Amino acid sequence: MKHIRYIFILINISLAFSILSCDRSKDVEKIHIGFSQAMTNDDWRRSMNNSMELQASMNPEIDLQIKDANYDVLTQIKQIDELIADSVDVLIVSPIQSKPITAVVRKAINASIPVLVVDRKTEGQQYTAYLGADNIEIGRNAAKEIIASNRKDSIRIIEIRGMAGSSPAEERTMGFQQVINQFKNAKIVAKIEGDWEKESIQESLRQLLNNDIKVDYVFAHNDRMAVGAWEVARELGIENEISFIGVDGLAGTNGGIQAVKDGILKATVLYPTGGDEAIKLALKILDNESIPKNNILSTTIINELNADIMNNQFEKINDQQDQMEEQLAAIKLQEELYYSQNNLLKITMALLAIILSLTVYSVYSIFAIRKKNRQLELTNEKVTVQRNQIEKIAKEIKISNEAKLNFFTGLSHEFKTPLTLILSSIESISDYAKEKGSRMGNEIELIHNNSNRLLRLINQLLDFRKIEDRNFNLKASKTNLYNFSKLIFQDFEREAMKRNIDFKLTSNNESLDIFIDRNLMDKVYFNLLSNAFKFTPDNGKIGVYIKDDESANIVKIHFKDTGIGIPSNEIDGVFQAFFKGSNNRKNSSGVGLHLSKEFVEMHKGNIEVESLHGTEFIVSLYKGQAHLDESEIISEQDLVDSNIIDFSSDQLIDDNYLIQAPSKNKEKYSVLIIEDNKDLSLFLKNKLQLEYDIHLSEGTDAIEKAFETIPDIILCDINLPDKDGFEICEILKKDLRTSHIPTVILTALGNKESYIKGLQSGADLYLTKPFSYSILIQSIKSLLYNREKLRYYFTSNIHKIEEINSFGDIEQKFISQLNTLINDNLGNSDYSVENLAENLTISRVQLYRKVKAIMGISISDYIGNIRLEKAKTMLENGSLTVSEIAYSNGFSSPNYFSTAFKNKYGISPAAFRKSV
Ligand code: FRU
Repeated sequence: MKHIRYIFILINISLAFSILSCDRSKDVEKIHIGFSQAMTNDDWRRSMNNSMELQASMNPEIDLQIKDANYDVLTQIKQIDELIADSVDVLIVSPIQSKPITAVVRKAINASIPVLVVDRKTEGQQYTAYLGADNIEIGRNAAKEIIASNRKDSIRIIEIRGMAGSSPAEERTMGFQQVINQFKNAKIVAKIEGDWEKESIQESLRQLLNNDIKVDYVFAHNDRMAVGAWEVARELGIENEISFIGVDGLAGTNGGIQAVKDGILKATVLYPTGGDEAIKLALKILDNESIPKNNILSTTIINELNADIMNNQFEKINDQQDQMEEQLAAIKLQEELYYSQNNLLKITMALLAIILSLTVYSVYSIFAIRKKNRQLELTNEKVTVQRNQIEKIAKEIKISNEAKLNFFTGLSHEFKTPLTLILSSIESISDYAKEKGSRMGNEIELIHNNSNRLLRLINQLLDFRKIEDRNFNLKASKTNLYNFSKLIFQDFEREAMKRNIDFKLTSNNESLDIFIDRNLMDKVYFNLLSNAFKFTPDNGKIGVYIKDDESANIVKIHFKDTGIGIPSNEIDGVFQAFFKGSNNRKNSSGVGLHLSKEFVEMHKGNIEVESLHGTEFIVSLYKGQAHLDESEIISEQDLVDSNIIDFSSDQLIDDNYLIQAPSKNKEKYSVLIIEDNKDLSLFLKNKLQLEYDIHLSEGTDAIEKAFETIPDIILCDINLPDKDGFEICEILKKDLRTSHIPTVILTALGNKESYIKGLQSGADLYLTKPFSYSILIQSIKSLLYNREKLRYYFTSNIHKIEEINSFGDIEQKFISQLNTLINDNLGNSDYSVENLAENLTISRVQLYRKVKAIMGISISDYIGNIRLEKAKTMLENGSLTVSEIAYSNGFSSPNYFSTAFKNKYGISPAAFRKSV
């Protein structure tokens, strides 16, 4: 494509050039005629040049170049040389003198340039042709005119000659003498040598005439000298005594014909310039036409007899010449117009040619581009297909990876429930053993430790997923680094002792506080120490050294062991996921170090490893909190995660914090456990049934069970077969019948989003598996105790119940509705609990349980209390009788009112009124 473009550009340029340069070929055909003119200071020469130019201009291909030698022979030679050097096609020469110009004319001939000699000749006839009048004939004509017009016996003549050495002068003298010599009465009495100009002869003539020489005729070789002679005669007053004859016979005011007409000259001999003839002859020479060597122009005598005619003739000729010149000028103008138009046409044609070729190129380009486009489209399609395939494969891989990860995550979550059971069981066994004052031995510790280990591994797997999903939020709190390290250090002390490992924790600044996410940093410590213990042989050495660089803003924690170390070529990959050293024969998930690095980097810190004799991990952390985001800092330990704690050091049980239940409430609280894992629900049932009435639901009938039983507390799992725990919780919390029931969510989902979702669904507590049974039981008790406290408060302040906002909205609304209905029907002793339930659109049992749950008393007691409270107020303030008050408050009889009043307030209504 690129080459083709260049070719087009070249074609265009050459096309334009060839069209525009057509003129050059014409130049080659031009005829160059060089003319060496002897001088141009007189009319005859000017006339000669004019007629030459006129003739030449009639032939456009003639290029005429006239060089004026200005009477200087050397100049003329030089100019002829230049014309020879220019290689003119024809050389025309009018020599100043014959002899000096002969050689240079020969030179031209030798250079194969045809030479046409005009007017004057060179010597030896070494030229192509001569053109001019016959000067001998001219001399003769002049002599004949003198003889013919003179009747005197003796005719005395002065001959004024042209320049010596020029052929006309010689020949005119020759012809003149030939005739004069024939007549004895005619005599040339004096000869004056002139140079064709009058100034050259006037002085000599003056002297001659002053010497009283008798003269009849003066024959001058040209009219200018003849008029000059007449001027001298007039000067002397003898102009009428002498007749003057000249040569040339030029027309025009200063010409010889006018001088004849004016009576100055007797006659003039016509000497035609032959300018036009010279050009014609030159063309003939170039056309190789045979021409005579001597081309003689005709001559005639002009005297008073024919001067007018001649003058008229010449004037006509001159007019014609002028017309011709005008026409030629017009032609030239036309020609110029033609040439400019021609050039315009050529430029237009060139442009057209360029446009045409560009059009062709454009069409070609369009096709070429279309072709290229088609190819590109095809390639594009291919690429798109390939990309789609790759995308599809990538998607499939992603889905498959997701599926695998989900599978592992799901599995890990699944592991948590059985682990909860195992750990809770061990706790029970351990508690039981403690109660009995006996120890269950190493096996329990073994189960306990390994369950914990398993739990840590599962947590690691889940953490890995969370790290992959960028789902971690740092929760850093101000922590004493040494104390924090010490707590973890103690977990490993027993193993160190057992294996005789020299295990030490040292610090150069035990009071240093830094901001760390204890939960995450605990995992880092645990991981690094587990590795150290895993790879350090018995009797080895493991040290944790906290080095506070007081001058820097950094603290370094060194974990150094004397274990097997890491091969130096593998050390770079140590923190990559799934790394396993080639010298590691033990089971390893390969995610521990990867997670440790991620966790440290979440603290903006850095972890490095060195391995020479054993391995050393160095964790560098910033001091202060400037490197952390505000959102990453919490003021105290995170309580959510603290639920997932090692219950072996269960310090949360506070025996003083047990419920002091109201004495009259002896009946058991009921608990609804919504859990699809049978083992777990049975485990919980077994554990809880000593203190609570237990209802079980595996999930699908959870809502129905809750409405049916209206339990005092609900424990609910999240991942359930039908509705999930969040939905169940939300439904129950929005329903009037169950909205008051405290709900605890028990789940393996430990992430923040689920926690928030749980609380949004209305749950009162969110516990993550594996949960500590102690925490669970304590939480249940706390929730029931709080509810109990409220109830107690309400039953003692029944008349203020609507003002208290401690219940949720639904409860508040319920109580308000309930109170309105009761108050509206106070005087109606037939208004039953059934009527009330009906008005509240719930069942009688549900009403009973709801009121009992909220207020701790039966609905009929609640109605009775309201009646009594109202009656009491009426007794205090009103003027009605006791009986009237009894009836107006819906008591069936005054007696029944009195008994009920006395039962509640310990005083009869009548006595109460008196006491007010
Ligand atoms: C013009 C002229 C003419 C004369 C001729 C002779 O220069 O002097 O008057 O006839 O030259 O060559």
